[in-house]
Amino acid sequence: MSYQTQTEVVRVDALRPEPSIIDYAAGLLRAANIVAFPTETVYGLGADVFQPAALERIFVAKERPHSDPLIAHIADEASLELLTTAIPEQAKRLASVFWPGPLTLILPRGPRVPHLVTAGLETVAVRMPRHPVALALIRALGSPIAAPSANRFMHVSPTSAQHVLADLAGRIPLILDGGPCEVGVESTVLDLCAERPTILRPGGVSLEALRTVIADVQPPDPSLRYRKAADTANPAEDDPAAHHSPGQMLTHYTPAVPLLLYDGSAESMRSAMLAEARWRHLQRERVGVLLADEDVAAFQQSGAIVYSLGNSANPAQIASSLFKGLRTLEDARVQVILCRLFDDRGLGLAIRDRLLKAAGGQVIECGRQ
Ligand code: TXA
Ligand code: MG
Repeated sequence: MSYQTQTEVVRVDALRPEPSIIDYAAGLLRAANIVAFPTETVYGLGADVFQPAALERIFVAKERPHSDPLIAHIADEASLELLTTAIPEQAKRLASVFWPGPLTLILPRGPRVPHLVTAGLETVAVRMPRHPVALALIRALGSPIAAPSANRFMHVSPTSAQHVLADLAGRIPLILDGGPCEVGVESTVLDLCAERPTILRPGGVSLEALRTVIADVQPPDPSLRYRKAADTANPAEDDPAAHHSPGQMLTHYTPAVPLLLYDGSAESMRSAMLAEARWRHLQRERVGVLLADEDVAAFQQSGAIVYSLGNSANPAQIASSLFKGLRTLEDARVQVILCRLFDDRGLGLAIRDRLLKAAGGQVIECGRQ
């Protein structure tokens, strides 16, 4: 596929999607084309799960390696039968509580699922999104939709149609613009084929919430979540988990500019970031700062470009503005981004995970007092 496609952006009602627009998009999918559409987490780049020629277009448009498997999106539980050989009891319980919603389940792969979807694994990732546009599109197509996030490979996920356009203009025929995404981080990926149910990627459904349904859900492997600035030598390719779930490489969400990530008490992070911002400003560097509402006042005279993610006590707000904040600072052509960490309870675990990935797994420790 060449990159010479004209990209059309069509506004669609996020709550009551217009049937004519949905039918138009479904027609493209049926004709083995690809379409970007909103979900409650991030925008997806969809193809009919059973058309390998269409799936191939996803990998070309995103420049995504074939080793990275895709999530199949369904609109009803009956469609699970098309994708998997067995529906574990745990899957049924989780689905009844969290679907439709930001939870992806790893299940045994059914024989009809193309290898392009699963990257040759014996498992398949499935989720039922809750965004009305996504659900309407899957129903209109009459087939599950395979969809990764609609960004170029290694870039942060898109949470608006403008983000998709910035990454994929000229590479895809259609973007359905349903406005900003509500959750703002991707779905939680939960492996139900492991010995114990294990989170591979923290996301829109928290560990705590999952444990209310299945008590022994395991958190993500901590070696993937945390790496101090000192041990930089361990490249992501050597990550054992990278082979099991390739999207979990620490460098996955690299923003276009370097990100320095601060950890510690709110006061110590603020003063360390302020000192760094002032110093770099004196060196005539264009500095971007990602922080919380309560930090903003301290940076007024710093010379940095400041973006507040919201109230640090409100992780849902921080999550929903995180990727927009990173992209806004990139677009402001900053040379470096300084960012603070947040509490890792609830949605905070996903926020921490994305920030660590954007920082190549490194943190700057600055005291807890
Ligand atoms: O919220 C989301 O999950 C969004 C929206 C569009 O639904 N999608 C998304 O897709 O984030 P993507 O492709 O960017 O991330 C899918 C993740 C990757 O980390 C991939 O490695 C993992 O799911 N995954 C997919 N199939 C898998 C499998 N069979 N086993 C383990 N991990 C799998
Ligand atoms: Mg992605």
